[in-house]
Amino acid sequence: MENLEGNVNINWSSSYNTGIERIDFEHRIFLELVNSLKKALDNSYTKIQLHRILIEIEKYAEFHFISEENFMMRIEYPDFKKHQILHFELLEQFNLAKYDEQGFENFYQFIKEWFINHTVAEDIKIRKFILDENINIDDIHYNLNIQV
Ligand SMILES: [Fe+2]
Repeated sequence: MENLEGNVNINWSSSYNTGIERIDFEHRIFLELVNSLKKALDNSYTKIQLHRILIEIEKYAEFHFISEENFMMRIEYPDFKKHQILHFELLEQFNLAKYDEQGFENFYQFIKEWFINHTVAEDIKIRKFILDENINIDDIHYNLNIQV
């Protein structure tokens, strides 16, 4: 039986903000893609459609992780390797999930929790490092100059 929480979109929460515009922007897109998987599940999309959405999220995650890792390298983030391994492990999970047609709903629950936990527990540490070390990120090409 599915709980009620499983039926609603995950809304953006201020607790997800890293304060790094580009990363926050990419996280918002990622969240939107995760929500699109839920919508597809609720509307009984075909296995082929669900599989394609999973690939879309996987490709975006892959891009976003490289982007976030490049940023970490630029600021010489000390836990870079540890963080990179977490990204790698998630991509491994995508590889398994793509071929498990019975498990799409479970994977949605997993990816939803992963996003929330990883963003709040790990990505936020990048923000803390920037603040602690007083690093000026304005000159790093990740400012979008948009209102979000
Ligand atoms: Fe991350």
